[in-house]
Amino acid sequence: MEPNIIGVAMTNSTSSYLEQQLERRFNVFKLWECPTLDPDTAKSIRAVVCNTQAGADADLIDSLPALEMVATFSVGLDKVDLKKCMEKGIRVTNTPNVLTEDVADAAIGLAIAVLRRICECDRFVRSGSWLSREFGLTTKFSGKPIGIIGLGRIGSAIAKRAQAFGCTINYFSRTVKHHLTDYKYFPTPLELAKNSQIMFVSCALTKETKHIVNREVLDALGPNGILINVGRGAHVDQSELISALLEGRLGGAGLDVFENEPHVPEQLIHELQDKTVLLPHVGSDTIDTNIAMADLVIANLEAHFKNQPLITPCYH
Ligand code: DGY
Repeated sequence: MEPNIIGVAMTNSTSSYLEQQLERRFNVFKLWECPTLDPDTAKSIRAVVCNTQAGADADLIDSLPALEMVATFSVGLDKVDLKKCMEKGIRVTNTPNVLTEDVADAAIGLAIAVLRRICECDRFVRSGSWLSREFGLTTKFSGKPIGIIGLGRIGSAIAKRAQAFGCTINYFSRTVKHHLTDYKYFPTPLELAKNSQIMFVSCALTKETKHIVNREVLDALGPNGILINVGRGAHVDQSELISALLEGRLGGAGLDVFENEPHVPEQLIHELQDKTVLLPHVGSDTIDTNIAMADLVIANLEAHFKNQPLITPCYH
């Protein structure tokens, strides 16, 4: 493919490798450096590469008259206006599979960090407190009943890992997975919460799954319950989560995502320091996966511009 002919706009960058690879092949416009495009430039852009921080909304899509494709550097599609893309015949790709293992690893890591109070232990040692007292006890992860909301690729990878820890696997999903006889299906998130001690959220964010973890679900998890969210912040009613933690109605939480990220409520940061472990949406951010995701974005763009089938199309 002849480089620097096709216009590709990037909305943001969380991968310098992706930037370099795009620049080798395309005429790249970095929208975070020049948010307003002159009309001639706008007309030359045939693809948008976006991510979980800056997506492709209706305004951006409408401002690019030659747009043929949106490739998101993420598995989640919640930042892409899919309806608008479909209406305009714009193709959309994402980066599934390559990040599954990392996000599942992060989810299990968060659960163990919350239950075994890893960050608190770290602060305890660094502050010199160990010289004057013992730390106290923590809570076991192995063998506990876990509940997973969304048994897709990431949910299944979490289940596989938790099974190796001897956990009982419960799940809520759009469909019952009859072939997974080791796992127990629950018809609602509430029933799932009543039967689980550690709840993982790993489903896609849609209108239906917004605030799927609400006050009732948190109360059903209870004072010994732990919530782990590696999906999207909006899966959880964040103010209800904060109240449940402050009032001791929920035991703890491990969060990789937040409702208005990168803004994180003060209470989570300060008052709830010992009940929560907070990550800056880094579930898939390993060096290996960052490269694999970037390669998949590039492969999809190249396939599109060579009129070949897309590798990971979001619809047909
Ligand atoms: C994605 O790629 O959508 C996820 O946020 C990874 O954590």
